[in-house]
Amino acid sequence: MKVVITADELKKGIAELNRPLGFVPTMGFLHEGHLSLVRKARAENRTVAVSIFANPTQFAPDEDLENYPRDIDRDLELLSGAGTDLVWIPTVGVMYPENFQTWVEVEELTKVLEGSYRPTHFRGVTTVVAKLFNAVRPDRVYFGQKDAQQAAVVSQMVRDLSYPLEMVVCPIVREPDGLAMSSRNTYLSAPERQAALCLSSGLFKARDAFLGGERSAQKLRDIVRQEIENEPLAELQYVSCADPETLAELKNEVENCLISLAVFVGKTRLIDNIILGK
Ligand code: PAJ
Repeated sequence: MKVVITADELKKGIAELNRPLGFVPTMGFLHEGHLSLVRKARAENRTVAVSIFANPTQFAPDEDLENYPRDIDRDLELLSGAGTDLVWIPTVGVMYPENFQTWVEVEELTKVLEGSYRPTHFRGVTTVVAKLFNAVRPDRVYFGQKDAQQAAVVSQMVRDLSYPLEMVVCPIVREPDGLAMSSRNTYLSAPERQAALCLSSGLFKARDAFLGGERSAQKLRDIVRQEIENEPLAELQYVSCADPETLAELKNEVENCLISLAVFVGKTRLIDNIILGK
């Protein structure tokens, strides 16, 4: 496994890789969720590249960039074990040289859900992802359904900017008790870790109701909301029942939907989601 930092090293490293090339962008502190993307990329391509970059432009000043967990040695060991051919670890200076002033912005899909609470977040994501795609020139890219809106926004960017690549969205990997894996779970104290189960249990209750015939968007949202409100350590930021493609909030009866939510457990902000129907 080759590890590169600079744009020149990357260019040489990429030129040596057989095609098709699968690519998994990450911010590091890897877990089974990330590794599931790497394994899928491994299975579907001749070579696999992964980037590790905690992208400053997608964090607001009051968010957790400074404390974002890091363990590069462990990450490299995990990536090597999962069959990665090349890892790119750009510095902030490599990605955002002095006088940087060009941004990639998806206008509509970013106004709702995460975008309404994190107004500069997706502009940072799409800009860095565009730069990563331009440098790596992958044939297939792998994203997690864990960040449902990010997957929708990046898919939109790929279509709108005609990136010659295939976008693959992979299922959410969960802990045995249901908690969606996240690098941010490491912030949780033991009681908060227990309380954090209300996100997945709320979603699973909504799924069970849907499978039992419940089709009211409002009732499905209420089931999730109730589960969060029953947990004293948790504070709901939003729960949404939306069209999985347009992310438009659904009224009345739903045929298929994306239920997503953001919750503060202590100071840690967690997100989770589930797709129902289809
Ligand atoms: P990061 O949070 O490190 O996640 C990298 C990829 O792993 C994303 O596509 C994310 O959806 C996926 N992922 C995270 N947890 C997962 C889980 N439990 N199951 C399945 N997939 C999971 O998302 C980012 O980084 C950044 O925004 C990035 C795209 C790298 C741009 O900076």
